[in-house]
Amino acid sequence: MSAFSLEGRTALVTGANTGIGQAIAVGLAGAGAEVIAAGRRDCAETLALMGRGRSLQLDFADPMAARDVFASERIDILVNNAGIIRRADAVDFTEADWDAVMDVNLKALFFTCQAFARAALPRGSGKIVNIASLLSFQGGIRVPSYTASKHGVAGLTRLMANEWAGAGLNVNAIAPGYIETNNTEALRADPDRSRAILDRIPAGRWGRPEDIAQTAVFLSAPASDYVNGAILNVDGGWLAR
Ligand SMILES: NC(=O)c1ccc[n+]([C@@H]2O[C@H](COP(=O)([O-])OP(=O)(O)OC[C@H]3O[C@@H](n4cnc5c(N)ncnc54)[C@H](OP(=O)(O)O)[C@@H]3O)[C@@H](O)[C@H]2O)c1
Repeated sequence: MSAFSLEGRTALVTGANTGIGQAIAVGLAGAGAEVIAAGRRDCAETLALMGRGRSLQLDFADPMAARDVFASERIDILVNNAGIIRRADAVDFTEADWDAVMDVNLKALFFTCQAFARAALPRGSGKIVNIASLLSFQGGIRVPSYTASKHGVAGLTRLMANEWAGAGLNVNAIAPGYIETNNTEALRADPDRSRAILDRIPAGRWGRPEDIAQTAVFLSAPASDYVNGAILNVDGGWLAR
């Protein structure tokens, strides 16, 4: 079997109803995985695109929402993709916008990884793929809780890799560049910001969700068995510049 095949594996993808999460679900299914598309809303479109798989209601308004998901059935791959962003000047930023983003992007991600690891560690195998950001490395502008959360995702990815790599669990992250999704709609709608971003991307185009999906397949497959604690930039060269 190909080192990139996911035949016989079950994967759970959070935030799988749209954008990058949807593309990852479709990509993993295309590589042979049985995919559980998790979302706070209906994932019918994703199921239709995959042609198989199932959906699961998971709303990280409760960051512990996934605590019981991994105890009842074997899930080999976890992709923590669900994430939100709130924009305001740092000087005006509210506690509500801080807490909302940190809960979904960081607290829910950690405790979902913990629940997965409690089931996967005794089996001696498992793959976690976290979705980080360019703002795991850069400061950004007007997105303080997003930047804090994504720096946290990078740090926790390394911490969990340190603790679990020796037990056969791979923990890695993908740092997407500027990808055409709901998350970047406000940026793309602003002609000045949009042009400034495009001018800085060596690849000369915005990323597409499918650009992230195949990297997720790699980090979910046997091909990446010796990759631990990596944060893979998929950004058209943005961070190289
Ligand atoms: N687009 C980019 O350029 C870019 C760059 C770097 C990193 N990222 C990261 O990539 C990930 C996916 O974002 P995207 O660009 O695909 O944006 P998106 O289209 O807005 O997707 C975000 C996903 O997270 C889900 N979500 C939000 N709050 C949730 C909650 N409380 N419980 C469960 N799910 C929730 C959303 O569900 P709803 O549809 O119900 O809101 C949606 O499925 C995020 O972690 C984001 O930070 C994106």
